[in-house]
Amino acid sequence: MAGITLLLLCLSVLFRAEAEDNDTNCLISVKAALEAGEASQKLSNWNQASVTKPCSDPSSNSLEGVTCSNSRVISITLSSSNLAGNISPDIADCSDLQTLDLSSNSISGPIPDSIGNLTNLVTLNLSSNSLSGTIPVGLSACQYLNVLDLHKNKLLGSIPGELGLLTRLKTLDLSYNKLTGQIPSSLSITATGAPRFNTSSFEGNKDLHGYPLVEHSNHGLSVLAIVGIGLGSGLLSLLVSSFAVCIWLRVSQQGYAAQEGKISQLVSDT
Ligand SMILES: *[C@@H]1O[C@H](CO)[C@@H](O)[C@H](O)[C@H]1NC(C)=O
Ligand SMILES: *[C@@H]1O[C@H](CO)[C@@H](O)[C@H](O)[C@H]1NC(C)=O
Ligand SMILES: *[C@@H]1O[C@H](CO)[C@@H](O)[C@H](O)[C@H]1NC(C)=O
Ligand SMILES: *[C@@H]1O[C@H](CO)[C@@H](O)[C@H](O)[C@H]1NC(C)=O
Repeated sequence: MAGITLLLLCLSVLFRAEAEDNDTNCLISVKAALEAGEASQKLSNWNQASVTKPCSDPSSNSLEGVTCSNSRVISITLSSSNLAGNISPDIADCSDLQTLDLSSNSISGPIPDSIGNLTNLVTLNLSSNSLSGTIPVGLSACQYLNVLDLHKNKLLGSIPGELGLLTRLKTLDLSYNKLTGQIPSSLSITATGAPRFNTSSFEGNKDLHGYPLVEHSNHGLSVLAIVGIGLGSGLLSLLVSSFAVCIWLRVSQQGYAAQEGKISQLVSDT
């Protein structure tokens, strides 16, 4: 019995050590990739020593933007930190990550597919960067995702319909990218037919269409039609009124002539 307990304890220590190694590998790779662009002062305290045991020493909570819980990294928040470079696929090694906020930086390159392995993720905010490539389909595996904010990037391609599987999703912002194609109905309407996300989630993507966006080409046409109708009716009323003036002139001229005739007759009669 004692032997089994000891074995289990041993295994759990090993497991914990491995988990910490995974977090360490994650942070080292994330730092290296983010600094591939330009040297950043923000991550200067992510040195080898503090990254090696990111959560075991309570005083090492000094790791900028990193929050731990139960000896695991649960949050990386580095918003508006002058970061460039790109996002390392090894981010998935921080397997307990619940919050990833790298918003308002100059990060480029793709969102790594491995992000789909972060199955504890609740908040993903990568807005206001220069991220390119497509939205990873694997994100649909992050079933606890509440917030997905990817607005103001350079994301291409169509929106994966699989994102509709994220039933806990409350905030979705894909606006101001270069997304194309049809908006998946799984994101625009709920299973009961009610509206799910509104235009503010999708606007600012030139070649994206479908409900809830107002169709662009139709909009253009109706404006043209209004201008056409306006011009047409203006011209018509101009024609009608000038015709009326013509007739009036003619009639009054005739009347005048007739009157003049009467007057001259009167004058000659006297
Ligand atoms: C650590 O990473 C390895 C390889 O990616 C993986 O097989 C293992 O399950 C991870 N361990 C934990 C505790 O996350
Ligand atoms: C994402 O981060 C930006 C700041 O960089 C913030 O303005 C925005 O509200 C965040 N998105 C959500 C959904 O909280
Ligand atoms: C998750 O990780 C495994 C192994 O680490 C990898 O083979 C797989 O492609 C990853 N899944 C996603 C969605 O990236
Ligand atoms: C869209 O929905 C968000 C919240 O989900 C709300 O704050 C915003 O006002 C809505 N916008 C429009 C145009 O309805």
